[in-house]
Amino acid sequence: MNKTARNDRLLWLAWALGITCLAIPLSGCGSATGSDNEQRVRFDDWMPGKPRESERERPYAYQLNAEKIFATSCSGCHGDDGRLGPAPPLNDPLFLAIYSPDQMLAVLAGGRSDGLMPAFNAGHVGGLTEQQRGILVKSIWERWGGASDLPANIPPYLQQATGEAAAGKVIFAAACSRCHGEDGKGRAAGALNERGFLALVSDQLLRRIMITGRPDLGCPDFVQSGSESSLKRPLTGADIANLVALMSAWRSGEEKALVDGP
Ligand code: HEC
Ligand code: HEC
Repeated sequence: MNKTARNDRLLWLAWALGITCLAIPLSGCGSATGSDNEQRVRFDDWMPGKPRESERERPYAYQLNAEKIFATSCSGCHGDDGRLGPAPPLNDPLFLAIYSPDQMLAVLAGGRSDGLMPAFNAGHVGGLTEQQRGILVKSIWERWGGASDLPANIPPYLQQATGEAAAGKVIFAAACSRCHGEDGKGRAAGALNERGFLALVSDQLLRRIMITGRPDLGCPDFVQSGSESSLKRPLTGADIANLVALMSAWRSGEEKALVDGP
C-alpha cells in the first residue's frame, strides 16, 4: 500500500468517525433532553414557592375576579373597601339605591369630563374589557347594595330642574353652615367655597354628596342635614338643586363677594 492510499483511507476513516460522533447525539437528542426536561420540571415542582397554575400572574385583561379588579383599578381613589378615599364612596347603600348599574357602566366607559373620574374603556391605558366592567359593576351592588332601611322620599340622583343660587344661600345657612361655616368658608368641617376644590368636582358629585352625605367622613345625608337644622325636615330635590346652583356660582365667581370674602 503506498503512502497516498493509506492517507486516503485514514481521511475516509476520520470522516466516518466524525459523522458518527455527530449523529449519535443528534439522533439521541429527542429522548436525552426530553428526560432532562422532565427531571427539571420535577425538580422545579419540588422547589418551595413555585406558584400553582391558578396562582400564576396573568395579563390584567384576563383578570375576572371582581375584588381584584376593584383593588387594582378603583381603590386607589375610591378607597379600600370602597370608602374613605379621596373620590366618593361606592360602598354606600344609599348611593347604590339612587344609582343604577347602567349609569355606572356609562361612567366607566366614558369617565367624567367635568370631574376627575377617568374612563376605563379598553382603549385607555389601564382600561378594562367590557366583560370586566360588567363583572365589577354587578359585584359592587352584590357587595354593598340592597339595604332595606332606606329613608323615604330620597331625592333623585339626577337633577330635575335648575335651581336658584339665592334660594341655595338660605338653605346653606340653615343646613350646612354650622359645619362648613358661614358662606362655606369652613368651620368644624372644611371650606366648600373654594375655587380650587370646586374646580375638581362636578355638579353631579356635589348633588350626590348632598343626598348621601359622606358617611365615611362624617358629612350627614339629606335627612340629617335638613332635619337637624332649623328647617326641621329632610332636604328635598329642589333644595339640593338650589344648593348646587349656589356652589356652582361660587365656582364660576358669580358669587364674587363670597369668594373674596372679608
Ligand atoms: C384617578 C382616581 C379614580 C379612579 C382610579 C377611579 N375613580 Fe371613580 N371617580 C373618581 C372621582 C374623582 C369621581 C367624582 C367625579 C366627579 O366630580 O363627578 C369618581 C366618580 C365615580 C362614580 C360616580 C359617583 C357619583 O357619585 O356620581 C362611579 C360610579 C365611579 N367613580 C366608579 C369607579 C370605579 C368602579 C372605578 C374602578 C374601575 C373607579 N371609579 C376608578 C376618581 C376615580
Ligand atoms: C355635621 C356637620 C356637617 C354638616 C351639617 C354638613 N357637612 Fe358636609 N362635610 C362634613 C364633614 C366632616 C366633611 C368631611 C370633609 C371635611 O372635613 O371637610 C364634609 C364634606 C363635605 C363635602 C366634600 C366631600 C368630599 O368628597 O370631599 C361637601 C361637598 C359637603 N360636605 C357638602 C355639604 C353640604 C352642601 C351641606 C349642607 C346641605 C353639608 N355638607 C352639611 C360635615 C358636615
